[in-house]
Amino acid sequence: MRSKQVKACSIAAERANDIIKAMLEQPTLKTARLILRPLRLSDARDLQRLAGDRAIAATTCNIPHPYEDGMAENFITNCAIAFQKGEMVNFAVTLAADGTLVGGIGLTIARENSRAEMGYWIGKPYWNRRYATEAASAVLKYDFETLNLNRIFASHFENNPASGRVMQKIGMKREGILRKHILKWGEYLDLEQYGMLKREYLRI
Ligand SMILES: CC(C)(COP(=O)(O)OP(=O)(O)OC[C@H]1O[C@@H](n2cnc3c(N)ncnc32)[C@H](O)[C@@H]1OP(=O)(O)O)[C@@H](O)C(=O)NCCC(=O)NCCS
Repeated sequence: MRSKQVKACSIAAERANDIIKAMLEQPTLKTARLILRPLRLSDARDLQRLAGDRAIAATTCNIPHPYEDGMAENFITNCAIAFQKGEMVNFAVTLAADGTLVGGIGLTIARENSRAEMGYWIGKPYWNRRYATEAASAVLKYDFETLNLNRIFASHFENNPASGRVMQKIGMKREGILRKHILKWGEYLDLEQYGMLKREYLRI
């Protein structure tokens, strides 16, 4: 019994070490058309313009609306702090061709459970070009291969099937539904849950 506990503790410590090592410096992830890099304060204006669109706040929990002056700068600063603490990794999604900021994607990490929650948005002018799918695939790879986490999960509101498609396209499994879990702008909404385990990722 005791040796099982010791083994479990040493696996947990090993996993935590992997994450800490991987999080000393935030990497830049490259895909065919995108570069996912750490946010910079110089992104603040574009971030406010794109994430400030009502359509982005409408299907997300944590993006404010209206997106007031100073909020983007605060967010960018907080991302850097959360990364240093090993709690979050946020990437600016930019076009490899010319560096244009088109969206954001991030992981909220629960080290004690070796899992992360993924969240993303793409600016409305850039929807339906498969940028979210491309960015989410790269972050999945980072989650399992660099951070060495055991699980990644994501959820979307019932009125956001496009996000559900992204989760399906990257190979996540639908795990269930939390009924009327979200109160968004006066309306109760179901929350669809998706997830993937490392062992499933390795089989893809
Ligand atoms: C959800 C979001 C990230 C998708 O970004 P995107 O870059 O347009 O996504 P992709 O192009 O990679 O994939 C979208 C898929 O949804 C499909 N789609 C778009 N609108 C749809 C709709 N109303 N119903 C069903 N599917 C839809 C597209 O056809 C595409 O699928 P396909 O490649 O099989 O054709 C983007 O709409 C967004 O930022 N929305 C606001 C913020 C948000 O909801 N974030 C996610 C929170 S969970």
